[in-house]
Amino acid sequence: MDKETFYISTPIYYPSDKLHIGHTFCTVAADVVARYKRMCGYDVMFLTGTDEHGMKIEESAKAAGVTPKEFVDGIIAGENGILDLWKLMNISYDRFIRTTDDYHMESIQKIFRTLYDKDDIYKGVYKGLYCTPCESFWTESQLVDGKCPDCGRDVHYAEEEAYFFRQSKYAEKIIELMPEYLEPSTRINEMMNNFLLPGLEDICVSRTTFTWGIPVDFDPGHIVYVWVDALSNYITALGYGNDKYDDFDKYWPCDVHFVGKEIVRLHSILWIAMLIALEIPLPKKVFGHGWLLLDGAKMSKSKGNIRDPLILSELCGVDALRYFLMREYSFSSDGNFTNEILLNRINADLANDLGNLVSRTVAMVIRYFDGQLPMEQESDDIDTELIDNAMNLFAIYESNMEKFAFNTALAEVIKLASRANKYIDETAPWELAKDEEKNSRLAAVLYNLLETIRICTVMLMPIMPESCEKIFAQIGATDMLRSFESVTTFGMLERNTKVEKGDILFPRLDVSKELDELSGK
Ligand code: MSP
Repeated sequence: MDKETFYISTPIYYPSDKLHIGHTFCTVAADVVARYKRMCGYDVMFLTGTDEHGMKIEESAKAAGVTPKEFVDGIIAGENGILDLWKLMNISYDRFIRTTDDYHMESIQKIFRTLYDKDDIYKGVYKGLYCTPCESFWTESQLVDGKCPDCGRDVHYAEEEAYFFRQSKYAEKIIELMPEYLEPSTRINEMMNNFLLPGLEDICVSRTTFTWGIPVDFDPGHIVYVWVDALSNYITALGYGNDKYDDFDKYWPCDVHFVGKEIVRLHSILWIAMLIALEIPLPKKVFGHGWLLLDGAKMSKSKGNIRDPLILSELCGVDALRYFLMREYSFSSDGNFTNEILLNRINADLANDLGNLVSRTVAMVIRYFDGQLPMEQESDDIDTELIDNAMNLFAIYESNMEKFAFNTALAEVIKLASRANKYIDETAPWELAKDEEKNSRLAAVLYNLLETIRICTVMLMPIMPESCEKIFAQIGATDMLRSFESVTTFGMLERNTKVEKGDILFPRLDVSKELDELSGK
């Protein structure tokens, strides 16, 4: 039987700014879900990519003295570019789409024409306040002191022929369906109150003021609005309207689009209206996540408050950074980033709780049993609580992972590691080791610790894939013992497992020294 499919996407990123830890947040979250779902047995399609058209890119290229395509190629595929960043962060995407790919451009032209033929797109006149040097239309409310918000110069009333999409026609349908696909529910209220209930307007979907975009093939001079181009990536990447791929029927409708909160409107209104107009089933879920804030503000290049994932991963390691992002923040709300929070979290959870548990346990098996436990092991009532907690963990973890409550899922896993550390204190293996008659009791204690470590590690695999491999190697867990099926039973690890000493997994970070060093970066 074919496996059930699971399709997850991130937004496609603008290659205009350097990607920062905020972009990494969403992409790591999507990667964690993709890895988790693969472990659950799904045939996963994880899509990410880049959104390469638009005036901003045309201008940046001009300023850099290169063509727009050369400009985006450098940012995407050049040294320390987006592809390098996702490789560094261990992002296991299945497909990477660039909106400058020929097959995508061909599909967009077809989509635009289909909507035009169905009269969902019509030609009209765009009226507004125009800034000639910036070649941009503005609304009254966008002006700053009555002037162009970009350059501060005078604007004047102007009209221009343009194509419009009949978004308004689908307002009622969207109001009816939104509660089924948009999460979390607070985002539904925002969309209803701010956009849908006051009345949805048609939206201008072509531009003539710049050229870096996909031409409307039946009306040269017009290019397709960048959001119509960008949103459609979720279907063109599966082969909708092109022959490059052939898995639209297999993976669509998408199981979840992860998007930042400022682009929820485009995903939950414009995209949905486009799909209804094209008679394509709607995504099962659009999940609007929160932002990582720095000093209370969204990170951005212009504010100079970005944090570079490259520097941070050099400092603490890729897995620890991935863990931190998923553990520290609730995916649905905003959260404040500081270097101090990062360092303290890694020290507390990874160096102290998990790392310590692994190194102490492995060291004791080596010290007391030469690295291999004897078969004879004697249980005790005191073991029950730890064993029960370990066996019940997966149900709690799974229900949180399914809700994208990564922070709660991880808090529970680390709670078990911390409980195991307490079990070491309660059972005092160093005391048992003094008396040869207590050897089988000592072996049982160490076995329970190793098995608890294995269970925690299986659940950490989607978050810290490389470190988990190292832990499995240290505790002697074979491939079969690295699956979700194997964590609801306690006692799957071979009783006489062999351990191996490994490097320290998560070295303790010297917070004040690292903070000093980071403050210069
Ligand atoms: N190109 C559009 C998306 C088109 S999808 C059809 C875009 N690109 S972006 O590069 O500006 O942003 C991509 C994503 O990164 C957005 O979901 C945005 O919310 C997210 N983030 C950017 N800064 C962020 C934080 N500081 N914190 C969390 N996410 C952030 O929008």
